[in-house]
Amino acid sequence: MLQWCILRTYHVLALVLCVSAREDFDWTKNEKTSFYYSTFPTGFSWGAGSSAYQTEGAWNIDGKGMSIWDAFTRKKGKIFLNDTGDTSCDGYNKFKDDISLMKDMKLNHYRFSISWPRILPSGLKSEHINEKGIKYYEDLINMLLDNKITPIVILYHWDLPQLLQEKYGGWQNVSMVNYFNDFANLCFERFGHKVKYWITFNNPWSIAVEGYETGEHAPGMKLKGTGAYKAAHHIIKAHAKVWHTYDMQWRSKQKGMVGISLTADWGEPVDITNQRDIEAAERYIEFYLGWFATPIFNGDYPQVMKDYIGRKSGQQGLGASRLPVFSPQEKSYIKGTCDFLGLGHFTTRYITPKNYPSGLGDSYFADRDLAELVDPKWPDPGSEWLYSVPWGFRRMLNFVKTQYGNPMVYVTENGVSEKMVCTDLCDDWRMQYFKDYINEMLKAVKDGVNVKGYTAWSLLDNFEWDEGFSERFGLYYVDFSNKNKPRYPKASVQFYKRIISSNGFPNQREVESWKRKAVETCASSNQLLAADPLIGHMEMVSEIVIPTVCTLCILLSAVFLMFLLRGRI
Ligand code: NOJ
Repeated sequence: MLQWCILRTYHVLALVLCVSAREDFDWTKNEKTSFYYSTFPTGFSWGAGSSAYQTEGAWNIDGKGMSIWDAFTRKKGKIFLNDTGDTSCDGYNKFKDDISLMKDMKLNHYRFSISWPRILPSGLKSEHINEKGIKYYEDLINMLLDNKITPIVILYHWDLPQLLQEKYGGWQNVSMVNYFNDFANLCFERFGHKVKYWITFNNPWSIAVEGYETGEHAPGMKLKGTGAYKAAHHIIKAHAKVWHTYDMQWRSKQKGMVGISLTADWGEPVDITNQRDIEAAERYIEFYLGWFATPIFNGDYPQVMKDYIGRKSGQQGLGASRLPVFSPQEKSYIKGTCDFLGLGHFTTRYITPKNYPSGLGDSYFADRDLAELVDPKWPDPGSEWLYSVPWGFRRMLNFVKTQYGNPMVYVTENGVSEKMVCTDLCDDWRMQYFKDYINEMLKAVKDGVNVKGYTAWSLLDNFEWDEGFSERFGLYYVDFSNKNKPRYPKASVQFYKRIISSNGFPNQREVESWKRKAVETCASSNQLLAADPLIGHMEMVSEIVIPTVCTLCILLSAVFLMFLLRGRI
């Protein structure tokens, strides 16, 4: 609570200082005039992201084992249109092309994930190491480095080996801690001389809540009120163990860093003068970001989670809280296990208190006692949950600074989607989203938040989990209906390139011309995309029809020749 008040006071103070210093830098308003023209510190790292299951395809190629997502997408009705990531963008075969795209954008880093079952098909290091899988990641990493693109590698972006789910119940079982540590250790051993930025987990909130509470994601378990807390507990322990493994066995030789990537929305009190709204918004963020960040930075779960879940568990007649407890040894083992924080951020909600009586059944959502609201005026061009609220990003970054001791931050995901029906490559709304969100990040850097890099989500349109291919986040459009999975640049590629080459937003005149120029170039890509069915048709003609006709001709000529010869004889 005290920290929250400090943050609020800080906001008011920052407002007073900023308004008196320059009128165009008013953080409370999302107006045009509040745009901040300036650049990022030298060395700021610009990148784009992907994840293995969302992009690689090749689900059963070269000895890869099955993941929980391979199994989940095979169950009818779980994914929009029953799509699967079986082939997706075919990143497994097209990574060289993708690195050319990154090079063209002059990216400084590429954030991707390693598929655990691709290198350990059964999940267990003791059983079988798939050298072909290792080779794929080696080639990818080498080629990135040859092109001066730093790899930022995620060890777990949701694709648990299916056998670990079947045998042990996945993240419900504490044995995952050691199995994950073995997998991570193998990655450090094989890739650690080249990779210097490791991220243990991507978005553990989603793994826990959507995987084990609502069941919308793999493995699809609906263990309301307990499953998410248990999964998160084991994930936090696994993260800490891997950090210690790196620290003890590899850090001195490899000189890299290990962090975790947490994704969270910002929660703004509906009425910032109302104490109950302020406390509800605090709860929202603590149940979201704080659930993982507070143990890792400060040593234990947020007090407000312990209080709320403990009280509700008591009212439900349970002998102990549904929120597991860390022992004193575990707390000190977990505290401080983060060399940098990866932050994923997309959107914001207004928050107000709402009472969920305990008789209605327990759930993570009911435990928080709050309601989420949105402003209907906020733009929402794609995914239904994703409203563009740039100012929330700056508040979120400042929250991280105040709450967790101003850690080094890499933004590991930020971006916006469009609906499937949209095949317009001139993605004006995405350019606007990037412009405004990156500008808020710039303001946060000026506020003193220690942000070192930014990752646009995502490099390519890809498999958007339970939404299948219906929501496109990519800078590059992928034509999934064409077996070659061609990539087409959206206008935002040009726009992002300008931000990168200027390292920010140098001056109004220049920045205002960027969108116009980007739209000019995307018109020709639009034409190419429109011609794609024709190209696909021509490819079919050249790959199937022409060879078939030629073979038939040869056969017919041979038969004809035989008759001719017989006639003569
Ligand atoms: C965060 C997830 O980590 C990523 O996989 C997903 O595509 C984005 N959110 C957008 O929903």
